[in-house]
Amino acid sequence: MKFCIDDADIKKIERIYDMFPIDGVTTNPSILAKSGRKPYEVLKDIRSIIGEEGELFVQVISQDPAEMVKEAHRIVDELGRNTLIKVPSVPAGFKAMKLLKKEGIRFIGTAIYTPMQGYLAAKCGAEYVAPYVNRIDNMGFDGVQVSKDIHDAIVRSGLTHSGLLAASFKNSQQVLELTKYGVKGVTVGSDVIEGLVKNAAIDAAVAQFANDFHGLVGDGKTMADC
Ligand code: E4P
Repeated sequence: MKFCIDDADIKKIERIYDMFPIDGVTTNPSILAKSGRKPYEVLKDIRSIIGEEGELFVQVISQDPAEMVKEAHRIVDELGRNTLIKVPSVPAGFKAMKLLKKEGIRFIGTAIYTPMQGYLAAKCGAEYVAPYVNRIDNMGFDGVQVSKDIHDAIVRSGLTHSGLLAASFKNSQQVLELTKYGVKGVTVGSDVIEGLVKNAAIDAAVAQFANDFHGLVGDGKTMADC
């Protein structure tokens, strides 16, 4: 499963990329706005952290298909081949997706709140589709279940080029449910990623091992120097 960071905070990305097994970074216009910096400036900083091989996701702003394609060209020119274009899964977006598909530009269907949006984006050739789990929950529906339904529809339709990059998580449980279900990927905000393994029992167990070992061979000693 792909595991991405949903953030544009350079310091947080640096730390998490260093520690965790991360495949890429997703952004959206609101995330870029939060950085307060020029879009390509912050995106190039992210690219330099994740390297040429990391997947970087950047969303188009226009609501016109031809303009979306123009934005996609500029984004890929600026940020390299492993950059995927995030296209909202609305009618104009579907048209843009079909054009991008013909040109061989990689893209993800985003802003997905319903199973049919996910299915149609996959059918347009999207490499990933991004249901917004927590936002769907906040609308009074079940974001995890909607995501599972999209996953099932894609798999059962034989759309093997596509799969979920589920997004908009607010807690570990939402991430765990979809990880167990075998979705293609998830993108998770820095704070939620840090929380995935934050647990006093884990910290206490690790500290106890070190204490016991130091009692045996001396303070500060490790297996490298005892
Ligand atoms: C990612 O692709 C989405 O843009 C993002 O996860 C939305 O998350 P939010 O609901 O926390 O804004």
